[in-house]
Amino acid sequence: MSTRTVIRGGLVVTATDETYADVLVEDGRIAALAASDSSAARSWHDIGADHVIDATGRYVLPGGVDCHTHMEMPFGGTFASDTFETGTRAAAWGGTTTVVDFAVQSAGRSLRAGLDAWHAKADGKCAIDYAFHMIVSDVDEHSLKEMDVLVEEGVTSFKLFMAYPGVFYSDDGRILRAMQRAAGNGGLIMTHAENGIAIDVLVQQALAAGRTDPRHHGEARHALLEAEATHRAIQLARVAGAPLYVVHVSAQEAVAELAAARDRGLPVFGETCPQYLFLSADNLAEPDFEGAKYVCSTPLRPREHQAALWRALRTNDLQVVSTDHCPFCFTGQKDLGRGDFSRIPNGLPGVENRMDLLHQAVVEGRLGRRRWIEIACAAPARMFGLYPRKGTLAPGSDADVVIYDPHAEQVLSARTHHMNVDYNAYEGRRVTGRVQTVLSRGVPVVLDRAYVGRAGHGQYTPRGLSGHLA
Ligand code: URP
Ligand code: ZN
Ligand code: ZN
Repeated sequence: MSTRTVIRGGLVVTATDETYADVLVEDGRIAALAASDSSAARSWHDIGADHVIDATGRYVLPGGVDCHTHMEMPFGGTFASDTFETGTRAAAWGGTTTVVDFAVQSAGRSLRAGLDAWHAKADGKCAIDYAFHMIVSDVDEHSLKEMDVLVEEGVTSFKLFMAYPGVFYSDDGRILRAMQRAAGNGGLIMTHAENGIAIDVLVQQALAAGRTDPRHHGEARHALLEAEATHRAIQLARVAGAPLYVVHVSAQEAVAELAAARDRGLPVFGETCPQYLFLSADNLAEPDFEGAKYVCSTPLRPREHQAALWRALRTNDLQVVSTDHCPFCFTGQKDLGRGDFSRIPNGLPGVENRMDLLHQAVVEGRLGRRRWIEIACAAPARMFGLYPRKGTLAPGSDADVVIYDPHAEQVLSARTHHMNVDYNAYEGRRVTGRVQTVLSRGVPVVLDRAYVGRAGHGQYTPRGLSGHLA
């Protein structure tokens, strides 16, 4: 039997339009939108709805798409502290209805084994829909062939690391081969662009000189070594004839490399993350080892870099804001690196805070409302082959809908967040705007600020090829 929900009276905001409209949801999909006072909208009341949601005074948004998360990722001698269950629940609380997580190829094992392991972690656990990228740590004949099969199956993007020698690192030859393969099979190569070989020298020099505090993590991972790797990745992609997506861009010099490539018309794309927009190297320098809370790679940069990131988001030199959600508790995990910053597990929590932090940028006039939805919902969905099923509100789209109160005030805090981590990177920050209700494929997950979702509602969502040229 078909179920019908009508969302009434809100301002529907997508990446392209803002309009007061009622939204008809049928069987988990958007069936129609109609001007709130139109005869079409009135007729939906006559045919009867199972549920009516009053969105008067609220925004009606497509659910957020966070295309960069690491649930339960093994890293730095421990595991990211959010499971698929806790991490996707927290995502829903923050208005994100799809995550694309990174399955990991462990050293000496196949891509298939890594992907199977990630399916086993996520299956039956997620509150919202999810998909996978694949981290390729061993580029060889076998894994290159596996890439073709994965693309056919809906794992259409592959992350290669220019950083972390001895862990995930691939040299230029391997990266080139993966890019050539992607040029043939339609996959999208994502690079972690930092010169890991040079960074390791600087790290060893810092430690040998007794510079062991968290702030030295940021200094060793020099901005020019991000820019250099970004430049190199772009040239390798050109040689291969492949598009390129650079993850977690933080340095203004790296943004300049992307902008220059795009000015030449190259299919080169980039994301940044809230931590680079709202936090800085000042946080890494917090006393009493508190700076460890902010250790991630690429690192937080001096505050001056932020203006270039905001500008690039406005000019579309950066297209996406993801979180790179990779939480480690301060107690018991981050403190593995007391006395040696290189042992601090790299990563920050944030999956719950992204939509609100970016809305705060709207409130402060840094972004327009539609641009907010573009970079947080539509562009990531398009980039990773999920659009228009995800990332917009159009007839036929999944009814992943957020009812957002743009006037509610909240203070971000570990005391109230739902992520399984003992600190919040934005502790005490006051923001305007808050998620009120979240539907995932038409089913309430958060209803009037109460969690009503369940583990296992979220479905694995195979992806199409990147629609970056669409
Ligand atoms: O510090 C980070 N970013 N941790 C997660 C792994 C990665 O490189 O994305
Ligand atoms: Zn990375
Ligand atoms: Zn990451």
